[in-house]
Amino acid sequence: MAKKEDKFKKVIAHAKEYGYIFGSSEIYDGLSAIYDYGHNGAELKKNIREYWWKSMVQMHQNIVGLDASIFMHPTTWKASGHVDAFNDPLIDNKDSKKRYRADVLIEDHAEKILQKAQKEITKAAKRFGESFDEEQFKTTNPRVVKYLTSHREILSRMGKSLENEDLADVKALIEELEISCPESGSKNWTEVKQFNLMFGTKLGASANTATQLYLRPETAQGIFVNFLNVQKTGRMRIPFGIAQTGKAFRNEIVARQFIFRMREFEQMEMQFFVRPGEEMKYYEYWKNERLKWHQSLGLGLENYRFHDHDKLAHYANAAADIEFNFPFGFKELEGIHSRTDFDLKAHEEYSGKKLQYFDPELKESYTPYVVETSIGLDRMFLAVFSKSLVDETLEDGSERTVLKLPAVLAPVKAAILPLVKKDGLPELATQIVDDLKWSFNTVYDEKDAVGRRYRRQDANGTPFCITVDHQSLEDQTVTLRDRDTMQQVRMPISEIKKAIEEKIDFKTWLSKN
Ligand code: GAP
Repeated sequence: MAKKEDKFKKVIAHAKEYGYIFGSSEIYDGLSAIYDYGHNGAELKKNIREYWWKSMVQMHQNIVGLDASIFMHPTTWKASGHVDAFNDPLIDNKDSKKRYRADVLIEDHAEKILQKAQKEITKAAKRFGESFDEEQFKTTNPRVVKYLTSHREILSRMGKSLENEDLADVKALIEELEISCPESGSKNWTEVKQFNLMFGTKLGASANTATQLYLRPETAQGIFVNFLNVQKTGRMRIPFGIAQTGKAFRNEIVARQFIFRMREFEQMEMQFFVRPGEEMKYYEYWKNERLKWHQSLGLGLENYRFHDHDKLAHYANAAADIEFNFPFGFKELEGIHSRTDFDLKAHEEYSGKKLQYFDPELKESYTPYVVETSIGLDRMFLAVFSKSLVDETLEDGSERTVLKLPAVLAPVKAAILPLVKKDGLPELATQIVDDLKWSFNTVYDEKDAVGRRYRRQDANGTPFCITVDHQSLEDQTVTLRDRDTMQQVRMPISEIKKAIEEKIDFKTWLSKN
């Protein structure tokens, strides 16, 4: 089995075993692409949400929060374009009866070609050593030039066909590239059809009078319809932003890859309202800011890359993804979109209400332009969790599985372990728990030998272990063990809280970049 698949399976199994993620309503065999978060998962998710919220709202005087409802007036979705244009191009394989997103099939094919180019580049870099000029190699090596051109041309043609709604050409491209069904290997495809992704429901008791509603497919529209409410009550001046986190729902047809693509998921979105004409400046600014946020978590600079969209959504004039190196390769983690004035103008048109801003400096009213940053909380969870899970061989030849979660995000910050279950050590350990629990999450563990307890906490992602031993009774000191280095230092009990707080502090992490 391929190494990547092995790693991904391990991630899924570990998430379940340590109470991070369960399949939803598992006792009834679950629901596809819907998941529940366990005791550790709920904490990790909350900490990621908070890390985002603080960096957006607390750290910016000109960004405020919002918590809009999931249900919105149905005209919202007509105005936003979701009723007419929130579709995925689907294709069925006639032999396997499996359904795929046509654009994903093509993108996966293009990615394989890119990987071939990357392999040649890596090989050459090894061969030439220090003197290797990657840029020159990319433009002169015939094989690499061929791969890179082909990759570019495929994505550009697909982008154009989708933008022009030319679904026949999308199918033609699949056939020309000889893309086969990943399940059966068959190339016997149906036509490509559009499929709307919104979940519908009804409001009202009687079938005749009930109103058709939708579960929101993005949180952003709650921000747009509240734009003036927030601007006026918060006395906000452009440029300013509104941030929101919350559930979104999409009837994903090809829901797979665990929590990467779910039907019910959570988004963390921020709409930044700017003067028309200034949107590209802020688009670049937010691309840069968001990348810095990701990199502050220390998951490895090499695991991020930008991908500029060839196919723009119906509302955007520029868009880029921050892609992350998931266990199954580089995929979209976050989108940064320049949404123009599309949404506010559309809501003005459909509601008949003005959604304009009077700019006191320019002394004129206008519909602001919007730059959006949008990240899936669950997808961020997967990025952090999968990159943190490592198997290590230690100096003595033994193995350990360790979940090296960034300490600022870890569900439990410290485990307090009495060396033995007697001699007053549990009592002292309990006192330490009672003191520390006011500041952060702790866990008390007295079961098994201390070495096994360390391994358990390593696999659980707990960054610190505090061990209470007989010396602790004599001089009120304990050892503090670091999960990643496994180094232990002895220190007074009175200094433990400060030592841990420094390592889990939001400022320590976010200000790294
Ligand atoms: N408001 C813009 C918007 O919703 P999007 O690119 O469709 O844009 C933004 O979604 C982010 O939401 C994505 O980058 C991804 O992280 C997350 N996301 C989208 N669909 C998802 C799904 N089915 N499951 C999990 N996360 C998803």
